[in-house]
Amino acid sequence: MSLELTAPVPEEPSVAEDGTWLECIECGAQFAPFEDIRYTCDDCDGLLEVRYSSPPTWDDFEGRGVWRYNAALPFEEGVSLPEGATPLHEVPRLESDIGVETLRIKHEGMNPTGSFKDRGMTVGVRVAKELGVDRLACASTGNTSAALAAYGARGGMETLVLLPAGKVAAGKIAQASLHDARILEVDGNFDSCLDIVQDLAARGEAYLLNSLNPFRLEGQKTIGLEILEAFSDDYGTYPDRIVLPVGNAGNTSALYKAFRELVQSGALDPEDVPKLTGVQAEGAAPMVEAIEHDWDETKRWDEVETKATAIRIGNPVNAPKALPGIRETGGTAVAVSDEAITEAQRDLAAEGVGVEPASAASVAGLRKLRESGTIDADERVVCLTTGHLLKDPDAAFEAGDDPEPVPNDTEAVLEHLAE
Ligand code: F0G
Repeated sequence: MSLELTAPVPEEPSVAEDGTWLECIECGAQFAPFEDIRYTCDDCDGLLEVRYSSPPTWDDFEGRGVWRYNAALPFEEGVSLPEGATPLHEVPRLESDIGVETLRIKHEGMNPTGSFKDRGMTVGVRVAKELGVDRLACASTGNTSAALAAYGARGGMETLVLLPAGKVAAGKIAQASLHDARILEVDGNFDSCLDIVQDLAARGEAYLLNSLNPFRLEGQKTIGLEILEAFSDDYGTYPDRIVLPVGNAGNTSALYKAFRELVQSGALDPEDVPKLTGVQAEGAAPMVEAIEHDWDETKRWDEVETKATAIRIGNPVNAPKALPGIRETGGTAVAVSDEAITEAQRDLAAEGVGVEPASAASVAGLRKLRESGTIDADERVVCLTTGHLLKDPDAAFEAGDDPEPVPNDTEAVLEHLAE
C-alpha cells in the first residue's frame, strides 16, 4: 500500500517533471504534474497525491513561512501574502487543567486571512498559474472561500465560491465579498456545494481549489513541518500527539504526508511520528464513525448539524488518505458536543488565544480523550486551532459575556462597577 508510514522512496517515472509527478493512491497510475488539469485518477477516480523522487530533509529548509519548506513543495515560491510561521502558544493553565505533560496550541488563525487555508492556497494558486487557468472556484464552509478570494485577488484571477446558504460565519463571507469573489449561496449543505463545483470543474468552467486538489495539501503539509521544528527547538523532542479538528480531512492527510516524506528521507524515525488524532462535532462525525467501526471508508451523512459550521461536513473527501494516517500513526478520532466546543473556546480565550468554534474542537477532543484515559498524563500534545475568533463573531458573542450599557457619566460608571 502506497500510504504506509514506512513506504520506500518511490522510483521516478518517465512522466515526472523535475522529480515531481501525480500518483493515484488506489491504483498507482502515474501522471505528469502540470500537463493537463486533473483532480482524481483518470483510470479509477481515486485520489491523487503529489510524489517526489527526493523527499526533504531538515537541512533543506531555509527562510520563514510556508516557502521555507519549498524542498517539500512542487515550486520554489508562490503567490504569497505571506503565510505560515504561526505561533505555537504555551497555555500553562489549560495544560494543567486538562492534565497532560505538555500542551501547545498551534494557532493557524494567525495566517493572513485567518485560517490554515492560506497555506494551501499559496501553492494552489501558483499551480493554477502554471496551468494557465484564469478562473478559480471552491465549495466552502467559509474559510476556503475567504482564502481563495484573497489569493485569487493577489494573483489577479477571477474567483467563484459556492457556500451553503445560511451556514457560513459572517466574517468569512465578508472576506470573500471584499476580495471580490463571486459568491453563490446554494440551498444545500457543503457536500452538495462540493458536488456542484466538481461538476463545474469537470466541465472546464473553473479550476477547483478544494482540498480534493492534491496541490493544496502540499501547502498544508507545512503545518506539520513547523510543529515538529518548533517543538523540537523548545524541548529537544517531537510531540507525542497532534490533535486536530476534522472536516474534509485535508489537514489530517497533509500532516500524515509530511511525516511520511520525512520518514522516507530518513529525517524522522517512524517511532517519532506524532499520533494523529482527529476531532469532529457529534452532529457531523463520519470519520469518527469509520475509525470506531474500523471501516476503510466513510459513509456519507446527509444530515449534518453543528455550531462549528466550518466542520459541518458529512462526506469527507480525503478520508481515503486520512484514515490510514490516523491508523498508521497510532492515533484515533473522537466526537465532541457543541457545548464542549464552546467550553473549549472559552478555555482558550482565557489564555488569550481567540479561535473560532471548529478550532476549539481540538481542545474539547483532547479533554474528552484525557478524561476517558485514551490519552495519558505524561503525553506531550499539540492542539491545532485552525481559524481565528473574528471569523465567527456571532459564536464569540454567544460564548462570551454581554456588553453592559452604562450612562455617559463617570460617577454612574463607578456605581455600576460597584454593583
Ligand atoms: N477548521 C476550520 C476552521 C476549517 O475551516 C476547516 C475546513 C476545518 C477545520 C477542517 O479541515 O477539511 O482539512 O479536515 N474548512 C473548509 C472550508 C471545509 O470550506 O473552509 P479539513
